[in-house]
Amino acid sequence: MSKIIDGKAVAEKVLAECVDEIQQLKNNGVTPGLAVVLVGEDPASKVYVGSKVRKCAELGLHSRKIELPADASQADVLAVVQELNEDPLIHGILVQSPPPPQIDEDAIVKAIDPAKDVDGFHPENVAKLALEDASGFVPCTPSGCMRLLKEAGVETSGAEAVVIGRSMIVGKPMALLLMSKQGNATVTVAHSRTKELAEVCRRADIIVAAIGMPEFVTADMVKEGAAVIDVGINRVEDPSAKRGYRLVGDVAYDEVAAKCSAITPVPGGVGPMTIAMLISNTIKAARQSVS
Ligand code: GUN
Repeated sequence: MSKIIDGKAVAEKVLAECVDEIQQLKNNGVTPGLAVVLVGEDPASKVYVGSKVRKCAELGLHSRKIELPADASQADVLAVVQELNEDPLIHGILVQSPPPPQIDEDAIVKAIDPAKDVDGFHPENVAKLALEDASGFVPCTPSGCMRLLKEAGVETSGAEAVVIGRSMIVGKPMALLLMSKQGNATVTVAHSRTKELAEVCRRADIIVAAIGMPEFVTADMVKEGAAVIDVGINRVEDPSAKRGYRLVGDVAYDEVAAKCSAITPVPGGVGPMTIAMLISNTIKAARQSVS
């Protein structure tokens, strides 16, 4: 029987730690501030951006939400980033991904002041993660996954970990964290061209699924007793659901849960952690701005 890792509970624990730090900063005259930029009308992105801004308000953080139309130009987005780089009340900047196709996302990320890059996507922060320099920002989703493993009592040191997916948002930073001196795991990164993927996965003590394919990881790919972290949030059509769709992860939950030692549900697993780590990164940015 597997243990369900409660991401909401762990996220609340992280946020409770943040509350003390926010108060300390406020006592020193600094209110951490986060700016979230949304370009276009992607419905899922709108939901995520709304949740981030709401969480800031709940915790007494300063926040700004900047919405640009779907036909905004590269120059429009760069101008917003520039203004936020210069805004002394803003310590963290996040441009929601994915932007519309006319936007060069790499160029936008590079334009963000690395000291305000709470997403951890700027090359300077990517390098700091690889170098294990603690002054950098670690992308929120993989750092949330590491915290979930820790809170669930999953030993990463010496473990065989398989990360499925090689994105800059999740797969690559997740692999770096697992192999770091903090994780000490033996890491394999699998992706769409991996041969014998099921066999590779079956070696794993820890599987992190981040491929964006609904219920891709099935029970035959999972070793008995492995820990499974499901990063996927996929909408699948479901006429019986009120909204006409339901959310599923990258893992076939029921059959895998019956076999593994610990698993994150979707929703309620990794999702809540991403926001908690974003708030935590924003506080770190505020702290570092005055030290
Ligand atoms: N889209 C999905 N996840 C993320 C994230 O962590 N940061 C940003 N900026 N966009 C995302």
